[in-house]
Amino acid sequence: MLDFLGTRQRTHTCGQLRAADAGQTVTLMGWVNRRRDHGSLIFLDLRDRYGITQVVLDKDLAPEGHAKAEQARPEYVICAIGKVRLRGPESVNPKMPTGEIEIAATELLVLNDSKVPPFSPAEDAIQNEEVRLKYRYLDLRRPEMAHNLEIRHKVALAMREYLNAQGFFEIETPFLTRSTPEGARDYLVPSRVHPAHFYALPQSPQLFKQILMISGLDKYFQIVRCFRDEDLRADRQPEFTQIDLEMTFPQQETIFQVVEGFLKDSFEVVGEQIATPFLRMTYDEAIRQYGIDKPDLRLPPMTDVRDVFTAEELSSLKIEPGLPIVAIVIPNKQAMSNTQKKAFAQELNAAVAPDLAYLDVDRLAAAPQYAALAQHIDAAAAKNCGLARVEPENRLIVVSPRVGATAPARDHLWLYKKAGQLRLDLAKRFQDEHKAFEKKGISDDYKFLWVTDFPFFEWDEETKTWTFAHHPFTSPHEDDLIAGRMTSDPENVRALAYDIVLNGMELGSGSIRIHRQDVQQQIFRALGMSDEEARERFGFFLEALQYGTPPHGGVALGLDRLVMILAGASSLREVIAFPKTAKAIDLMVDAPTPVSDAQLKELHIRPVIRS
Ligand code: AMO
Repeated sequence: MLDFLGTRQRTHTCGQLRAADAGQTVTLMGWVNRRRDHGSLIFLDLRDRYGITQVVLDKDLAPEGHAKAEQARPEYVICAIGKVRLRGPESVNPKMPTGEIEIAATELLVLNDSKVPPFSPAEDAIQNEEVRLKYRYLDLRRPEMAHNLEIRHKVALAMREYLNAQGFFEIETPFLTRSTPEGARDYLVPSRVHPAHFYALPQSPQLFKQILMISGLDKYFQIVRCFRDEDLRADRQPEFTQIDLEMTFPQQETIFQVVEGFLKDSFEVVGEQIATPFLRMTYDEAIRQYGIDKPDLRLPPMTDVRDVFTAEELSSLKIEPGLPIVAIVIPNKQAMSNTQKKAFAQELNAAVAPDLAYLDVDRLAAAPQYAALAQHIDAAAAKNCGLARVEPENRLIVVSPRVGATAPARDHLWLYKKAGQLRLDLAKRFQDEHKAFEKKGISDDYKFLWVTDFPFFEWDEETKTWTFAHHPFTSPHEDDLIAGRMTSDPENVRALAYDIVLNGMELGSGSIRIHRQDVQQQIFRALGMSDEEARERFGFFLEALQYGTPPHGGVALGLDRLVMILAGASSLREVIAFPKTAKAIDLMVDAPTPVSDAQLKELHIRPVIRS
């Protein structure tokens, strides 16, 4: 028999009461987290978002309540009325904030029962994520999930408050719109009123926010949902949230300062201090030092050691002169067994083949004719990593080009990128296999970085043309425009584009935009886009550009990614209330689904395939 709530009101949450409250009569409501039946005494742990409080039902004191507690099961919804009392010293639970007290209930109401849940919210997350997602409401009852959502809320609020104080307006932009320029696949929405016409859900508010600058609104931001139909990974969801902003008349630095400001505040609200300004590094430096445009600064950088090789050494080691030779520190290499080392060597050989070879500096050091070389490599790498010396357990390997190797056309940084990828694979492997790695090489610090001066164009091997590395409204460096490099030297044109990177993850990106119609046209042409095609895709925007567009620029950060890092989670799904699986399915509501023929007819759609 369930009880009615009547006029009863909750007086405290389940995380609120402390020793100082002893003696008060309180009314608590929540879910049964655990129930322990000791005969005439029944203990119910009552749980809500705020915590857990122990309620005691004594058969003598409250016979009716005791009888109800006998029926209560996990996840039943309970109202307990009674007195706060101190627990005896032997039953104080120092792990619980409410562990010094308990409620001696005089009355117990069962407000609702519960089916036996497929997993217990009182336990840690179960392995089967599909079950967690199907029963997301139960999963969200777990304190860890509520905590993640709390971080998310606080971070978003701190950002809003900061941007408001800086004079930004939060302005909403449409969801039913047309294709935006981010380059992923669109989610399309068919129009009922206009047969065979589709809206696209925005991949970002990019063009709208630029138009808001043309409109003179000066400073815009939005915490906004974006939609991209792309292959999903742990750090990608089909719908995700950006903290998106745009400013009029900014320099890059103006935007960096705003972002650093709201990040500092949003870290502070969750108890983390971060130092600003963040480091800045050009794309070129990032690739040379880390082999990737999103360096994880917690790992030691790579070192180009070609200068320490003599011509004889290059020749006897069969290394191509003139290309980089990259030394990589392998943290905790020593921890490997001999069998592991052998397998590791084979893997390395396969990973760098066919153009590259690798040298084990330990083995060089053991060969008398290369001992001095090994020392020089060590010294150069140590200096570059800011170390007195490379610790013996973190020995080096060197990735070198084999005689005859050549860099692919239009990618002079190729060898650094290859070495960087290898280095990351190794880092991940060592992290997985030897937890000690974390203690040795990696700290828990937040290592922020601005990567600047990205190349403007990217070479597309398939089509043998230059394509844009960013969306096509990104401005090139004015110097490169003035020098005419767009046509004479596209490989070396730099974009006024920047990424913000945190611990090896791209957190956000942005750019100074093109504000002149003539420059925009030049860019489209350089990208091989005809005037007609440009007009068709972005006509409304090109039109707007002609009405006094001010210089402007902005940035967007992935809120989900930021919260994931702050929560120490390994997937975006841990910080999104209702996420989708890697196959873009919402298991709880079971979407997507087929729709009725009537609906399809209304939308003028006839499916070719039925699932
Ligand atoms: P960009 O496409 O780089 O830039 O996106 C900005 C940031 O959004 C996050 N992000 C994602 N997060 C989760 N799932 C996804 N599928 C996903 N895709 C992107 C990332 C990324 O760094 N309009 C430009 C910004 C600008 O130029 O102002 C843009 O959207 O953290």
